[in-house]
Amino acid sequence: MLKNKTIVLGITGGIAAYKAVDLASKLTQAGARVEVVMTEAATNFVTPLTLRNITHRQVVTDMFESNSEWSEEHIALAEAAAAVIIAPATANTIARLATGIADNMLGTVVLATKSPVIIAPAMNDVMYANTVTQKNIAKLKSRGFTFIEPEHGRLASGKMGKGRLPDTATIIKAIEKALGQKQDLTGKRIVVTAGGTREPIDPVRHIGNRSSGKMGYALAEAARDRGAKVTLVSANVTLEEPSGIEIIKVKTAAEMKRSVSGAVKKADALIMAAAVADYQPEAMAKAKIKKGKQDMTLKLVKTPDILGEVKGKFLRVGFAAESENIISNAKKKLTEKKLDLIVANDITKSDSGFDADTNRVVIIDKKGKAEKLPLLSKREAAERILDMVKGLIN
Ligand code: C5P
Repeated sequence: MLKNKTIVLGITGGIAAYKAVDLASKLTQAGARVEVVMTEAATNFVTPLTLRNITHRQVVTDMFESNSEWSEEHIALAEAAAAVIIAPATANTIARLATGIADNMLGTVVLATKSPVIIAPAMNDVMYANTVTQKNIAKLKSRGFTFIEPEHGRLASGKMGKGRLPDTATIIKAIEKALGQKQDLTGKRIVVTAGGTREPIDPVRHIGNRSSGKMGYALAEAARDRGAKVTLVSANVTLEEPSGIEIIKVKTAAEMKRSVSGAVKKADALIMAAAVADYQPEAMAKAKIKKGKQDMTLKLVKTPDILGEVKGKFLRVGFAAESENIISNAKKKLTEKKLDLIVANDITKSDSGFDADTNRVVIIDKKGKAEKLPLLSKREAAERILDMVKGLIN
């Protein structure tokens, strides 16, 4: 959603300006081109150098105001912006914007842009509540600007009050919404499992599988971005933890079953993207098994079938990693496990399945209707799976 988008980040002179550094960093990590425009007052709180290092781009400040080359740049910036976010926005900047004053860089960009403008005020609670500030906000709202309400909490003065800048995830969500991100899963609770379980043989060995967790993580992140409340039950992955998602770490199939049983209590859907072991050693040896005999036999017993055994009224989505007769095998699983949807993928190809960043999947519903998707990034495949999930939840 944010990838390759130009986001103008306006930073004004309030103590919360330091939080804009994190926002710039997260937006950059998400693939956005972040163009920072700082008011002169903002440069007293954080340095342009910090922002330049984080965004890898020039930072525009009012200190260059007299330079005509830069002023033209602002019109270009205003045109290139997919969205303008001002965080934190002081009462002073809000007042200037409300009257259309463009005597600084930020004012010029805002006046010259046709793109969505999002404003996150952060200030002393009395200044925020002041009728002048509230009138200015109302005026800007009526002009189509989006406001992110400040939060109640401890302010720089040490007092409690409404005026704190919300966290980075909340601000990013508002930007994505402005950019047209679908919020069609708002209020839905979705449990996703990801990764591969490990069944211990002894304290140092286990039976595992090659699942990287990328598909499950892509599903969890896509569901979060579409407004869902997501719980991710994650087994043995090395991926970075996404923000705004409740993560429960597990190792074995039995642990995964316990966590999933708890998490699905209020869920609308369970998406089992994890590769769960089908068998586990009958018992784990207490001490490391010593080398000795020419051969050894390991007795395996079935693991709990999570999809089949976890009770509740939620949509059940299974995955079928297949190496042959993909569709017929997946259909069989869908019926046996009483699923609403099954996502089948061919694990014999190097561009789909385990550890790949792309996937080639077929989504099959209860009626047996199969939708074969082309080679897609795991994120794009996740969006398509969620489109189907959304249609069935409602
Ligand atoms: O039968 P198979 O293991 O191929 O089924 C795969 C689907 O079932 C996946 O969605 C997987 O997460 C789920 N599963 C499960 N409990 C198991 C094994 C697999 O819920 N013990």
